[in-house]
Order: sequence, then C-alpha cells, then structure tokens
Amino acid sequence: MERVSEPLLRVRGLTLRFGGVTALDSVDLDVDRGELLAVIGPNGAGKTSIFNCLNGVYRPQEGTITLDGQPLTGRAPAAVAALGVARTFQNLGLFTHLTLVENLMLGRHHLMRTGFLTGMLWWGRAKREEIAHRAAVEEVVELLELEPYRHTPAGLLPYGVAKRAELGRALAMEPRLLLLDEPVAGMNLEETEDMARYLVEVRRELKPAMILVEHDMRLVMDLADRVLALDFGVMVATGTPEHIQSDPDVIAAYLGGAA
Ligand SMILES: Nc1ncnc2c1ncn2[C@@H]1O[C@H](COP(=O)(O)OP(=O)(O)O)[C@@H](O)[C@H]1O
Ligand SMILES: [Mg+2]
Repeated sequence: MERVSEPLLRVRGLTLRFGGVTALDSVDLDVDRGELLAVIGPNGAGKTSIFNCLNGVYRPQEGTITLDGQPLTGRAPAAVAALGVARTFQNLGLFTHLTLVENLMLGRHHLMRTGFLTGMLWWGRAKREEIAHRAAVEEVVELLELEPYRHTPAGLLPYGVAKRAELGRALAMEPRLLLLDEPVAGMNLEETEDMARYLVEVRRELKPAMILVEHDMRLVMDLADRVLALDFGVMVATGTPEHIQSDPDVIAAYLGGAA
C-alpha cells in the first residue's frame, strides 16, 4: 500500500558494524506521528544500537535516517535532541545528586533561549523563561504522579519511581519522537503495571511517536501498534502484535527462546 504522507521517522538500510560484528544489518523502519512501534529481540539483537544510531551516539556505516524529511544521520546527540528526539536509557540517565525537578529542568535545556550570560543581562526575560519552564516541568510531574518526589535527589528514588522520573526527563523535552529503552526492565509486576498505565496516559495526553524496546511481551502486545522483531541485527519480522506472536521465525528466534 502506498503511503499518503511521509512518516515522521524513516530509516532505510541502517547498517552498523563493530569490527567483525554486524550489530545492524540493513534495517528499515518507519514510525508515523502518534504511532508506537515496539522493537523486540534477544540480548545483543541490536535494539539499543538502533537508538544510538537515531540519536547520533553511533555513526552507522550505511543507511539513511530522516525525521520529518530532515536527515538525522551524522548529527551530534544535542542536535538530534533539539530536533525533538528524546530517549530514556536502559540504565538510568538521571543525575543522582540533583533533585527530580532539577533533572526534568535539565531535560528542557535545549528549549531554553536564554543562556547564563544573556540571563545576567536580561534578568526579566530569563525569569519569565524560568517560570514557563517550571510550569512545563510541573505538567510532566503531574502527569506521571511524581509530586511526592519533586525535591528528592534522583539517587534516592525507589527503582520504579526512578524509571518513571527517567521517562519524565525525556518528556520534559517535549519530544516528537520518544525512544524508550526497556522502561520496565528490573521492575516487579506492580511497578510494571504502573508504568504501562503511565505510558497509556502519555500517549493519550501528549501523543508523541514512540519506539519501545522491551522484553516484557505482555507490555509490547498491549501497547504496540506495530512490532519489529530483530535477531543478530537482522529484521526477522514486522507487523501487528497479533501477526508477530504467530510468526514462526519470531517464535524460533525469540519467543521460543524465552519460554
Ligand atoms: N560500543 C560497542 N562496541 C562494540 N560492540 C558493540 C557496541 N555496542 C553494541 N555492540 C554490539 O552490537 C550488538 C548489538 O548490541 P545492542 O544494540 O546493545 O543489543 P540489544 O540492545 O538488542 O541487547 C552486540 O553484539 C553488542 O555486543
Ligand atoms: Mg539493549
């Protein structure tokens, strides 16, 4: 079927090698506005590498990545963030000695127009900007029900809350595309169900396009519009959650292995 319009994110022929290891082998994927694409696959399949290519941490040897028609390939991480791509990390990316609100404010750094020096010269403008940023951060705090932890240093947050704060830091950037790397890894059942509920809420309220890398199959099947299955950097299958669950190659590569 022909697409009517360009997808938000378009990846073609993405190939990434580390010496003799091919982490990604000609991967293609599209994500539409507001869509949630899940990427599944065993450890070492190349899931995190996709994120690292998207946000400019790794330089793929081949392939193209465009966001809303603009090339992302070759851009530095800060430039990609400024274009509206935010990510959460498999191992938390919070500054442990800063409070939760301070971490979320840092997430907005690229949106801030007034730097330190101009802030000194234009005190009034800087103050108004600061108030606007605080208000935006408070909306995220409220959406994720993080009020009780506002002033808690991130390093002291309970694990499930820290993962939610990590999501909050990414949301504070007001992303068009949100990359979630194993948001429920290491969580117990209750924490996982909480996170699923918050992710549903984020979709409903903020409607960012999302790529979700996750091992928890129930979460993937509940949340994803489409699923891409990877194994050793190669696309094994792509389709709806129902299609993927019954795909023999996926079962062999992943679901079977997990069972
Ligand atoms: N910085 C790196 N240096 C060398 N090899 C790497 C690096 N990052 C990833 N790899 C390799 O690329 C492959 C894919 O890794 P990764 O994307 O982390 O997989 P996943 O997130 O699916 O578990 C693995 O074989 C891994 O060892
Ligand atoms: Mg990974």
